[in-house]
Amino acid sequence: MIAVLAVAFLATGCGAVGRVTSGDTSKGKQLFNEKCASCHTLADAKSQGTVGPNLDDAFSSDKQQGFSEQTMADIVRGQIAYADPEGPMTPNLVRGSDADSVALYIAKCAGNPSCGIHLYAANHGFNCDQRGSYNAGAAATALERSLYHFGKHLG
Ligand code: HEC
Repeated sequence: MIAVLAVAFLATGCGAVGRVTSGDTSKGKQLFNEKCASCHTLADAKSQGTVGPNLDDAFSSDKQQGFSEQTMADIVRGQIAYADPEGPMTPNLVRGSDADSVALYIAKCAGNPSCGIHLYAANHGFNCDQRGSYNAGAAATALERSLYHFGKHLG
């Protein structure tokens, strides 16, 4: 089933984003602060932007209706990739696994400021993800590269 879905997404080509299957919520929170907080209110991130919808409000009703975290992550991921190019939200502010991480973070924490996602401490070795495959060094390198990329392209 998963293989079939993956093929279906690949087949759609050009920029279609797949489902969010993994992500690093700490990194997602950090990226949210950098890229999204200026426009969106989200209690967990202590952001109070008002240009875009309040994300606590936007997703708490979804949570009450029983939407799964997976579904909400996929919705956010879609919005990141396909935000209306005419609107204030630039599409693809974050990409790839960074976008997955932001989507997963919002799915977990919107309307739920006690979700318990913490930012990296000064010593990134402190942060221990639940996944055995988690590699803090690689995550830090990836973040550094992303920041470089953003600096270069978003000025
Ligand atoms: C310059 C302001 C701005 C920034 C930065 C921004 N957004 Fe938005 N966002 C908006 C606006 C305005 C809308 C509503 C209309 C639209 O889709 O453009 C929106 C809509 C959304 C929605 C849909 C909410 C709903 O009620 O359906 C989500 C989810 C979202 N943004 C997430 C993000 C994420 C994640 C980031 C960072 C990667 C981000 N936004 C960055 C302005 C912004």
